[in-house]
Amino acid sequence: MKNLKQLCHPRQSVFDKSRRDVVLDITDLTEGKIDPTAFFAENYITQGMRSLNQAVFKRLEGHSDDGVFKLTQTMGGGKTHNMIAVGLLANHPEFRQKIMGEVYQTSFQEPAKVIGFTGRENPRYGIWGHIAEQLGKRDLFRDYYDPLEAPGQSAWVNLLKGEKVVILLDELPPYFQAAKAKQIGNSDLAVVTTQALSNLLAAIGKEELKHVALIISDLTANYSEGSEMITQMLDNYTAEVNRVSKNFTPVQQTGDEIYHILRTKLFRNETPDSDVAEIAGAYANAIKEARQMDITTETPERFAVAVKDSFPFHPAIKDLYARFKENPGFMQTRGLIRFMRTVVSRMWDENDGWADHAFLISPQDIDLHDSDTLTEIASINSTLTNAISHDIAGNPPAVAENLDAAFGNDMATKTAKLILVSSLATVQNSIRGLKDSEIVRNLCAPGINISEIQSKILPELKTNCWYLHIDNAGNFLFKNVQNVCDLKPKQRETLHWNAELPMGESG
Ligand SMILES: Nc1ncnc2c1ncn2[C@@H]1O[C@H](COP(=O)(O)OP(=O)(O)O)[C@@H](O)[C@H]1O
Ligand SMILES: [Mg+2]
Repeated sequence: MKNLKQLCHPRQSVFDKSRRDVVLDITDLTEGKIDPTAFFAENYITQGMRSLNQAVFKRLEGHSDDGVFKLTQTMGGGKTHNMIAVGLLANHPEFRQKIMGEVYQTSFQEPAKVIGFTGRENPRYGIWGHIAEQLGKRDLFRDYYDPLEAPGQSAWVNLLKGEKVVILLDELPPYFQAAKAKQIGNSDLAVVTTQALSNLLAAIGKEELKHVALIISDLTANYSEGSEMITQMLDNYTAEVNRVSKNFTPVQQTGDEIYHILRTKLFRNETPDSDVAEIAGAYANAIKEARQMDITTETPERFAVAVKDSFPFHPAIKDLYARFKENPGFMQTRGLIRFMRTVVSRMWDENDGWADHAFLISPQDIDLHDSDTLTEIASINSTLTNAISHDIAGNPPAVAENLDAAFGNDMATKTAKLILVSSLATVQNSIRGLKDSEIVRNLCAPGINISEIQSKILPELKTNCWYLHIDNAGNFLFKNVQNVCDLKPKQRETLHWNAELPMGESG
């Protein structure tokens, strides 16, 4: 059986820290700074992207009454990425067949114009001035610049008629929020912009603009006020044109799309099915042994299928990611890509990586002595640093590391790291922690001895770790408070001198 190092070849961007998190925006696209070949090499066509492409090209052909499309997802979810993908295809006809030939065969053969706006810019003559300028028709809107005034519907029709164009409006919520502070007459720029864009949407409903497509992105959570104005615009559009904007989700966060994206982003080759099947079979065998020992309830067949779908990632990664993806400040798809790039760069490290004796990238493969990894963990949940340094990986050695030394293997640290990754959610009522049978299931791997996890490793961790708790449902989880209800011998000593130890919860 081939190992990960033999099977999967990471892209250079995995090792190059400066490229780990390049964030492209709409200005990069409209200024022609994005190389379509490089972009599409690392693109995975999600269901949302598929439908969006199809809808936009039908519109460019003039075959569709739907001209307004909305992308909704929280930050880092793939909205801008989808806009750039559609923009590049609209701009570069030569990529259409290769990239979306299977998805949709368009009769629209020419290049379309692509213009756009990102709310991180602050154009002098408003969004309308910015749009007119990109069309090379700045003067057509000259009456609306000084003072800034919203162009009406017919002014927009006049500006855009005869154009085959995709208009991308990204990051409007933060723009609207800032625009509120800019007074115009007895109103403000946010109100005038909402008016201008409502008129634009109404114009797009007109027959003369049947080759114009507009894509708008909305950030649900973070800028609720700015989002309100988008809702208002789209409601006006529905009222006036009697059409609703079509909604698209860039990346389904629950299915397997996230694995496909990770694979495409992180690795430059595909793995032959036969090699993946061999690994899936080996994992199924490991699960089978654990079942015979009666320490897990997972079925080998189901697990083998899960491994095939998620390879080279462990099936647990998706479930554990789902727990912390809603953490405030965590950037969903982007955040997971960054995190996994960091993990992969350690596993494939020239000097001390371990991809050559691993078969999947698992949650317990995080290296907590690596400062980049610690930074990533802290960006997901910054409250567990004491738990990490005292219980999991530290200097002096942490509890789990001392247990490893005593037992002569690395199962205690593996177990502790898995529990840590399962404990990262910060949103109230989110799932945290794993039951012992789930821990066994996730640690099962070819050549790994899991027989002592339940009988020896977990009890020892429970006795010696300060921040490890077991909740009422029997889940092991790390918290940022010490487990004082279940005092450890060493802690009792400390407590004697320091009566102000934070109160822990369950025992
Ligand atoms: N379909 C996809 N294929 C490859 N990478 C993707 C895909 N969707 C999103 N990404 C990646 O996810 C990250 C976040 O996407 P981005 O468009 O910047 O999010 P948003 O605009 O919603 O904040 C980017 O690094 C992007 O490259
Ligand atoms: Mg974006």
